[in-house]
Amino acid sequence: MDPAVRAAEALLPVPRRAPEPVLELRDAAVRVGGRTLWSGVNLTVGAGEFTAVLGPNGVGKSTLVKAVLGAQPLASGEVRVLGTRPGQAGRRVGCLPQRRSFDASMRIRGIDVVRLGLDGDRWGVPLPLPGPRRRAARERVAEVVELVGAAAYAHRPIGQCSGGEQQRLLIAQALVRRPLLLLLDEPLDSLDLSHQGGVAALIGRICHQEGVAVVMVAHDVNPILHHLDQVVYLAEGGSVAGAPQEVITSGTLTGLYGAPVEVLRASDGRLVVVGRPESTGGGHGAG
Ligand SMILES: Nc1ncnc2c1ncn2[C@@H]1O[C@H](COP(=O)(O)OP(=O)(O)O)[C@@H](O)[C@H]1O
Ligand SMILES: [Mg+2]
Repeated sequence: MDPAVRAAEALLPVPRRAPEPVLELRDAAVRVGGRTLWSGVNLTVGAGEFTAVLGPNGVGKSTLVKAVLGAQPLASGEVRVLGTRPGQAGRRVGCLPQRRSFDASMRIRGIDVVRLGLDGDRWGVPLPLPGPRRRAARERVAEVVELVGAAAYAHRPIGQCSGGEQQRLLIAQALVRRPLLLLLDEPLDSLDLSHQGGVAALIGRICHQEGVAVVMVAHDVNPILHHLDQVVYLAEGGSVAGAPQEVITSGTLTGLYGAPVEVLRASDGRLVVVGRPESTGGGHGAG
């Protein structure tokens, strides 16, 4: 499609109510390089729900995001995104891929990074738009910058923003086209604890106040635990999805991973998951 038409189309209002469910996986399995990463994934995400994708490193969490985007075919089962096939929902799906950070010398301003969410992948090349469209684009960018709390630094070069500030700007970029489903791959990973809480609260607000369904890959469930509606744990050869308090238990995780997993609750309410899956819940008693 002509990029100018695509950018203009991105500013049209979308229906406020998402088709239900926003995302559905039915007995889904993925194979890469001749190996089954995960299988039997059943997940239903409704409008404005916050879902975490958890599991050890290398289990295929990022691959699940790719499957939802239509960039990774399933070996079996089905994925439906907003009532259509993966990859067909266009701008109604926003995505923040894993580990994107900006070099300190990067001079592009935060606000221009957000604007790129409208312009597509034409990095650093703002599209010429006719006057009213240009104003609508500017207003929408200002609106999402405000929503993520980035107004104070959005005009600075992004390379000079902190990790947390960069992450907020990237979330704004993913939101600028008014998606109904937002996919986030470990967005808290590079942040220190104080920023993790703030960005987690922002993501919770995007779900529960803005009505955007969020599916977020997480390394540690603790910063988002209080905002979550459901979790899905991936394991080699299986998966469990459900409410956090039902799934994040010693019994459920021991059954899923076929090895002893102990879930402990620290006095501050944090969950500590000991044993496999080593990457989740603060693992091994660490932070
Ligand atoms: N296209 C591919 N071809 C072969 N192997 C792949 C491909 N994509 C991912 N993998 C492998 O699949 C596994 C899961 O990757 P990934 O989804 O990134 O895991 P996670 O995000 O849970 O850490 C890894 O072992 C990775 O090397
Ligand atoms: Mg990953």
